[in-house]
Amino acid sequence: MQQTTEQTERKKRVLSCIQPTGIPTLGNYLGALRNWVDMQDSFDCAFAVADLHALTVRQEPSKLRQQIYEMFALLLAIGLDPEKHMIFVQSQVPQHAELSWLLSCCTQFGELSRMTQFKDKSQKHSDNINLGLFAYPTLMAADILLYQPDFVPVGEDQKQHCELTRNIAERFNSLYGSTFTVPEPYIMRRGGRVRSLQDPTKKMSKSDENQNAFISLKDDPDTVLRKFRRAVTDSEAVVRYAEGKDGINNLMDIYSTITDKDYDAIEAEFAGRGYGDFKTAVGEAVVEVLKPVQECFAVYMSDKAQLDALMKQGAERASWVAARTLNKAKKKMGLLLEK
Ligand code: TRP
Repeated sequence: MQQTTEQTERKKRVLSCIQPTGIPTLGNYLGALRNWVDMQDSFDCAFAVADLHALTVRQEPSKLRQQIYEMFALLLAIGLDPEKHMIFVQSQVPQHAELSWLLSCCTQFGELSRMTQFKDKSQKHSDNINLGLFAYPTLMAADILLYQPDFVPVGEDQKQHCELTRNIAERFNSLYGSTFTVPEPYIMRRGGRVRSLQDPTKKMSKSDENQNAFISLKDDPDTVLRKFRRAVTDSEAVVRYAEGKDGINNLMDIYSTITDKDYDAIEAEFAGRGYGDFKTAVGEAVVEVLKPVQECFAVYMSDKAQLDALMKQGAERASWVAARTLNKAKKKMGLLLEK
């Protein structure tokens, strides 16, 4: 089935991955995942659960196993279509680890040392600065280059890794002849910057120690409404988008992303009404968005056998594409393919 897509239609391809390190936040959903869903109409897509990347920091095996299932189920629950696109778990497609080695030999120590995420993470996990953490960007380059995508939708924080991927691809192509498509990062525009509900100068993050600062996609309606009611605002009591009103700006961004209303329309809707009404409205809008996702997620999670089957199908499709690229790269480098 992949042959026809590759040879005839030639839609542009996108690839992205997400680590299975806990249930994503509303920020991850509005800023990234929902855009993936929309991209399915215009692109040929590959989306994966990056479980090998999660191993760069210590994980509890039983918990990781559960989180891989949950992330995969969530990707399906938000509406990614495993019949039309490649939706898979990274470690089930062995070509990722293999190409990663080939690319490691085309990546300089100095380049990896400059990665800001490596510097941050090695500070945060100073008891476990392992080789995987250092080599992480070459694995990410392999994830990407195996599928020859035109675009890689990522957040701002992954831009440096995408740049490195481009450099590795260009270097490989010039050393060994044209092999990889050099992909463009596709920095997501819509809903890209959902902030903490407790400190709107910070990004919304699931690792925030204050539970009220973020909305988890698993939060039930009462929790969502309560967290929005407690969201930090300001003392002006006028719903308008303006400098210095980070809390309200953030709530307006969330509301706008969900309802497609612009700031003027939102200001008009809440003119003369207090923040209480507005916060409730935002909370209710979020509840409505999460409801179908949560229902669908529960159905998928209740049937692990079906999830296993869908993972298998996704991995088979992905490895059909990945194997072609890997073999091409091996041959160009002078390795012998199995006869
Ligand atoms: N490193 C990305 C993150 O932490 C996840 C990721 C892994 C990824 N491989 C990728 C993203 C390939 C885009 C393309 O968010």
